[in-house]
Amino acid sequence: MSAQPQLINKVDRSPSERLWEMAASDMASVDQIILERMQSPVGLIPDLAKHLISAGGKRLRPLLTVATSLMCGYKGDKHHKLAAAVEFIHSATLLHDDVVDDSTLRRGKKPANLVWGNSPSILVGDFLFARAFNLMVETNSLEALKILSNASSIIAEGEVRQLAALGNMQMDEDSYMQVISAKTAALFSASTEVSAVITAQSDEKRKALHDYGLKIGLAFQLVDDALDYSGFESKLGKSLGDDFREGKMTLPVIRAIEFSKHENDSFWHRVIVERNQNNEDFKKAMLLIKSSKSIESTIELARQYSLEAKELLNVFDASPWRTTLQELASYIVERAS
Ligand code: IPE
Ligand code: IPE
Ligand code: MG
Ligand code: MG
Repeated sequence: MSAQPQLINKVDRSPSERLWEMAASDMASVDQIILERMQSPVGLIPDLAKHLISAGGKRLRPLLTVATSLMCGYKGDKHHKLAAAVEFIHSATLLHDDVVDDSTLRRGKKPANLVWGNSPSILVGDFLFARAFNLMVETNSLEALKILSNASSIIAEGEVRQLAALGNMQMDEDSYMQVISAKTAALFSASTEVSAVITAQSDEKRKALHDYGLKIGLAFQLVDDALDYSGFESKLGKSLGDDFREGKMTLPVIRAIEFSKHENDSFWHRVIVERNQNNEDFKKAMLLIKSSKSIESTIELARQYSLEAKELLNVFDASPWRTTLQELASYIVERAS
């Protein structure tokens, strides 16, 4: 990267689109690596991987690795492989997650497990995880490898913690925050912290980048959990109400139960603990959630994290990268409205 690019002052483009434009050639290299490295002589692997990967996805995490590296003035090419590794880890978790969650829609398409079955999805997920590790090793950065391998085990822990808590009406906000911090925010924070490592930043700046990723990751999952009750399937490319059907205690439900002061406990017990749900129950849950204003309060919490994330980047010199990464933090919450 030579000079800092100019901010593109078009109000109709989101910060994520502007970052893509600013990092276009780097992101093209990342996509190239992703396409090359999902190949295998075992045809089922590229077929299944392509189904998920070519369906798009926001590529938010690799974009964060690339943009934060460029904000730190990075001149090499390790950020391309690390960003591709980050997207492979994310893709692997999505393949596994759709099996675990029994999903019916991913990126606007049938999830791979509904096309090929659960076993191929799990095994190709493992392949993508392994490819991520190949890529990380190739960067020769033991520290980046440490950060991303640590994030990988934390994500798995978060998914298992969440699985163990399914149908548990006693799950409180602290346990919920532990789950989302592990299953989602860990990869966001790793995707930004590796940039500090390859650009040899001070401990203070490395921590700022780690915490920026962590906080936007928390905000992102809070918004995602709010949208599961309030979004539009066509916009999200995934079906609404999945969390409810699984008996998942996300923040909108935790707060709605708390708000009703035990008045609706028999309803929540039936649908969450017994998972005995009829066609009208999702609507009823949405009404209870609406009257508790828990969607609004969940989004408000996301907004606080996003504001904190923005502040954290102030330790870096002002630049179009910094500004747009700060705007991205707000945008993650605005996508809810
Ligand atoms: C989905 O992540 C998984 C969550 C953490 C909610 P994204 O919403 O970033 O998924 P894609 O990659 O854009 O499809
Ligand atoms: C996504 O979690 C998977 C991981 C973060 C590992 P969710 O199950 O909450 O997300 P969606 O709604 O399927 O994308
Ligand atoms: Mg899940
Ligand atoms: Mg899921």
